[in-house]
Amino acid sequence: MSIVYYTLHNGVTIPSLGFGTYKLQDTEQARDCVAYALRAGYRSIDTAALYKNETGVGQGIRESGLKREDIFVTTKLPNDRHGYDEALRTFDESMARLGLDYLDLYLIHWPGKDRYVETWKAFEKLYREGRVRAIGVSNFLPHHLETLRQQTEIMPMVNQIELHPYLWQREAIDYCQGHGILVEAWSPLMRGGAAFTEPTVSAISQKHGRTNAQVILRWELQHGIRVIPKSATPARILENSDLFGFALDQDDMAAIDALERDGRTGAHPDEFLF
Ligand SMILES: NC(=O)c1ccc[n+]([C@@H]2O[C@H](COP(=O)([O-])OP(=O)(O)OC[C@H]3O[C@@H](n4cnc5c(N)ncnc54)[C@H](OP(=O)(O)O)[C@@H]3O)[C@@H](O)[C@H]2O)c1
Repeated sequence: MSIVYYTLHNGVTIPSLGFGTYKLQDTEQARDCVAYALRAGYRSIDTAALYKNETGVGQGIRESGLKREDIFVTTKLPNDRHGYDEALRTFDESMARLGLDYLDLYLIHWPGKDRYVETWKAFEKLYREGRVRAIGVSNFLPHHLETLRQQTEIMPMVNQIELHPYLWQREAIDYCQGHGILVEAWSPLMRGGAAFTEPTVSAISQKHGRTNAQVILRWELQHGIRVIPKSATPARILENSDLFGFALDQDDMAAIDALERDGRTGAHPDEFLF
C-alpha cells in the first residue's frame, strides 16, 4: 500500500488515511489492533482521551516496531477539560498515557459552550513550544472557526467532523477548504450503517470490483478529505487501507454525492454543550 499524503497549512505532511480507534477497548484490543494496522501499512492513528485507550494505542505503536517519526499520531482534548491551564495539564496526561515525547496532532474534541478560545490559546502555546507538530479542532462549525480566526493567532490545521454519504457538511467543508484547513471525516463508513448497503454504492462497487467500504472511503478521499476508518477485524483493517489503486469517475462521485440527506448520527455541535 502506498498512502497519499496531504500537506497542512504549516507544511507538515499527514497521511490521507488514518486508523480510527473509537470503541477499541484499552489495553489489549487497542494495542493489538494498532500494532496490526501499522504493520499492515497504516501510518497514522486517531485516538482521544475520551476513548480511554491511549495507553493501549501507545503500546501498539511501540509494538509495531516502526520508527516514531514514521507514524502520525492524533489525540484529542475531552469536553470537560476546556480552559487554558486545564488544557495544558490534560495534554501532559495524554502524553504520559501514550508514552510519547511529542504529538503530531492535538485536537479540541468538541467546541463545548464558551471556553474553546481559552483552550485554543493553550494549544498555540503547545505548538509554539514544539510539543505538538500541528493543532486542530473537531466538530467545529464555521461560526466557531470564525471566532478563532478573529480572536486567536493560529488557524487550526485540521477540522475533524462527521462525514459520510448521508451527511455532507457542505458549509463547514467550504469554510475549511477556503481557509486552508484540512477536513477529516469521522465515522467515514457511517459505522457500517444504512449508507453502507445503499444500492447506488453497491452498483459502483461492482463496477470497480471493490467493496462498499472501499468505494465510500475513496469517494471521501477524492473530495480532498482525510479518512480514519475504525475496525477491530483484521480483514476489514486490510480492506479499508486498499484505497489507492483505483479511482471513481465523475458519474460515480455525483451518484454518491446525491445520497446526502442531512443524516447526522452524532450530536450537533451547537447542542453538545457540556
Ligand atoms: N471527533 C469525533 O467526535 C469523533 C467521533 C466519532 C469517531 N471519531 C473517530 O473516527 C473514527 C472512525 O469513526 P467510527 O469508528 O465512529 O466509525 P466508522 O469508521 O465509520 O465505522 C466503524 C464501524 O464499521 C465497521 N466496519 C469497519 N470497516 C468495515 C468494512 N470494511 N466492512 C463492514 N463494516 C466495517 C466496524 O466494525 P468492526 O470494528 O467490528 O470491524 C465498526 O463497527 C473513530 O474510530 C474515531 O477515531 C471521532
